[in-house]
Amino acid sequence: MECFRIVGPNRIQGEVTAGGAKNAALPALAASLLSDGPLELSGLPAVRDIRTMRHLLGHLGVESEERAGVVRLQATDLARPDDAPYELVKTMRASILVLGPLVARLGHARVSLPGGCAIGVRPIDQHLAGLEALGAEVQLEHGYVTARARRLAGGAFRFTVPTVTGTENLMMAACLAKGTSVLDNCAREPEIRDLATLLNKMGARIQGAGEERIEIEGVDRLPSASHRVIPDRIEAGTYLLAAAMTAGEIFVRGAIAADLAPLLEKLAESGCDLEASEAGLRLRRTGELKPQDILTAPHPGFPTDLQAQYMALMTQATGLSTIGETVFENRFQHAPELGRMGADIHIHGTFAKVHGPTPLSGARVMATDLRASACLVLAGIAAVGETIVGRIYHLDRGYEGMELKLQRLGAMVERLPAEPT
Ligand code: EPZ
Repeated sequence: MECFRIVGPNRIQGEVTAGGAKNAALPALAASLLSDGPLELSGLPAVRDIRTMRHLLGHLGVESEERAGVVRLQATDLARPDDAPYELVKTMRASILVLGPLVARLGHARVSLPGGCAIGVRPIDQHLAGLEALGAEVQLEHGYVTARARRLAGGAFRFTVPTVTGTENLMMAACLAKGTSVLDNCAREPEIRDLATLLNKMGARIQGAGEERIEIEGVDRLPSASHRVIPDRIEAGTYLLAAAMTAGEIFVRGAIAADLAPLLEKLAESGCDLEASEAGLRLRRTGELKPQDILTAPHPGFPTDLQAQYMALMTQATGLSTIGETVFENRFQHAPELGRMGADIHIHGTFAKVHGPTPLSGARVMATDLRASACLVLAGIAAVGETIVGRIYHLDRGYEGMELKLQRLGAMVERLPAEPT
């Protein structure tokens, strides 16, 4: 199984360009199911989750071809069965994003229930309750959800929790419903706004995306559109944290300050120099790192997807920092791995207390999920000696060419075909 071999310590210095956002690209791809015309998407990151979604769409009958960085999708006749099979869905929870568009376009859908994953149970009750509020008949049987509706009807629905893919699923379904829908307590992530921009380009009538209340006036069909997805704020934040952790300097081209405000605020308070411009974000850290507490929360709170990487940074801060994880119930699995490298972290329920600074030494560590992998790579770059990060297939789900980007930034990172015995 492939792994990363990292030799540290090294300072991260130079420039990197943020790729397209994985979590904007996934719903954008699913939106192709809504249209009987060609959909052209650009800026899609070349990562495993995108390949998985395109494979799933192909199974459903969506033709897609890539030329010069533009993926052209055509869902003229969804001839295949409307089912998203277990084999595909179990590898990526975001497969659930085909449910809303299929019911809206075809009037029926059968999607395997996504299992849980390392960071949590990951229920989809809100996706299903929301579709019922739009008139769908939903059934759960044999590990599959089936949903039917002659035609979805505009309705009102309030999420009990701001769910990103839940908001995206319902926003897409409501686009083709008859009448107007009002969704409340919606997720407000930038990726929600980006999806609404795409859908409105396709002819949808959505207002309020990015706010708690979204209103969608249903239309009869959605012809074609072209769209470039927004830059990946989590990838950008990961590289900013790599530079902060190694007392380096970086320019992340394409990073959008407004989408990273909670992280930038903490980085500035911890002693990093930050400069935002139209072109991107620059960070430099020369002095001591001051500990800064964080509490993850749905946007515009501190993103849970940067919690693990931020914990790695706090191992180098002088003093005690407290990290609270409010979104997922099991997202501290990187802590014991950091401990094996010398970090001093104590977990108390949904809080982690990090005592720093502790020198990190290279070790063999294992990634458990996408963002935990990134955390361990950052720690390996700052650590003295050799670090082997196993199971980097997690990393490949959401980071394009990470080892190449890090090499260009001064890190000694190489991808090995198998873990050394
Ligand atoms: C999205 O996942 C992201 N994935 C995740 O990124 C991200 O961590 C998460 O939002 C939170 O920001 C994509 O966008 C593809 P949720 P999502 O539904 O939408 C509860 C990464 O690293 N909930 O917002 O699946 C749930 O238990 C990934 O790129 C319900 O209770 O997450 C959790 O506590 C990891 N019922 C909270 O909401 C539901 O029906 C947030 O989950 C749905 C969710």
